[in-house]
Amino acid sequence: MTTFICSPGERISGNIRVPGDKSISHRSIILSSIATGVSHISGFLQGEDSLNTIAAFQQMGVDIERDQDRVRVSGAGLHGLRAPLADLQMGNSGTAMRLLLGLLAGQGFDSRLIGDRSLSSRPMLRVIEPLQAMGASIESETGGRAPLQLRASQGLHAIEYDMPVASAQVKSCLLLAGLYAAGETVVREPAPTRDHSERMLRAYGCEVISNGGEIRLRGGQQLTACDVEVPADISSAAFFMVAASIASGSDITLQHVGVNPTRTGVIDILKLMGASLELHNRRDIGGEPVADIRVRSAPLSGIDIPLELVPLAIDEFPVLFVAAACARGTTRLSGAEELRVKESDRIQVMADGLGALGILTEVKEDGIVVTGGRIDGGAVDSHGDHRIAMAFSVASLRAAGDIRISDCANVNTSFPGFAELARQAGIRIQNGE
Ligand code: S3P
Repeated sequence: MTTFICSPGERISGNIRVPGDKSISHRSIILSSIATGVSHISGFLQGEDSLNTIAAFQQMGVDIERDQDRVRVSGAGLHGLRAPLADLQMGNSGTAMRLLLGLLAGQGFDSRLIGDRSLSSRPMLRVIEPLQAMGASIESETGGRAPLQLRASQGLHAIEYDMPVASAQVKSCLLLAGLYAAGETVVREPAPTRDHSERMLRAYGCEVISNGGEIRLRGGQQLTACDVEVPADISSAAFFMVAASIASGSDITLQHVGVNPTRTGVIDILKLMGASLELHNRRDIGGEPVADIRVRSAPLSGIDIPLELVPLAIDEFPVLFVAAACARGTTRLSGAEELRVKESDRIQVMADGLGALGILTEVKEDGIVVTGGRIDGGAVDSHGDHRIAMAFSVASLRAAGDIRISDCANVNTSFPGFAELARQAGIRIQNGE
């Protein structure tokens, strides 16, 4: 079991590029695999989650070659996937499981999706039910948990679906199934969620119409191969945004970060707290906005996090709670019940960890109240959740003693090389037993 031992730090600095965006990496493999022609992907995230997605499509007969962060995919075409001979392993990744379920629901062969312990406890009914309404045949464990068994499709039909949760994974799952459905699939989201699928489908030549929270896609559209340059993941960059904000004297530049407006909630929230963040060199890469982000330390104040920013910062809350622990006053988050069904229950696990370090929190069903204060040294359990492990590594910058973080191996799912890069920037992180 990997343990991080993090010692109190001072300032962080440098000019760094964090690994590629996880959401875009998954989607680049999925769409390239069902396109016609050869796609080249650069900046691909070499994390366990996205590597599992490559392996799954290789099992379905797609010719995929990878050299570090460069991937070449010879697309099999919309109807060219072959039946996998074994279960498809989705590891820790909710994105992979939910998006592949949508894609596989329309295939003329059986398949079975499996995942690790965390993924096998996460809710899948949110995708199973609308897919069944489209005509998919899916069996699951009690309560709609993985493993998920799909039966060969007898043909899907389009539906109009009002999503009960603001989830890009559900939206993307239904758009992928919609490619195989007769008619026009319509998905309505209750609040804006990341729109990488829509942008990338368009880049592959597919018509997707987005209008005021409604997304429409006609079935049967063929995708054409496309070259994808994956920007650095803002969700990984967020650890360094908070680190530089809380460690006095810090000045760091994060290069080539994806700043799609459906992902920048973390920047807006940190700015509301008083952080000093500047976006430079804004540009557009393959339909996705990118910028370099300079972050300098600044005194933070507690805020009430605006509800509309919650889905736009959904993966960044663990480290935002660390920012809140270092802020003057109280930070309140509500409307974030989704955090309870991520890789861990991120409200409870963060409250437990912050509590072990002497920070006062109040847990709510849909959020948390964090009161800024002194961070003591101590031991915290990340519960195998990559973002919890990295968030507490950042907290050590302001801690009065060492923080020992257990169960950190899953950091490799989204951020391979985190400990090395963090050390390079000035976080005193060591691998323990
Ligand atoms: C993701 C969507 C989000 C996010 C996850 C990646 C995606 O999940 O938490 O890490 O790539 O679509 P939900 O859309 O289910 O909130």
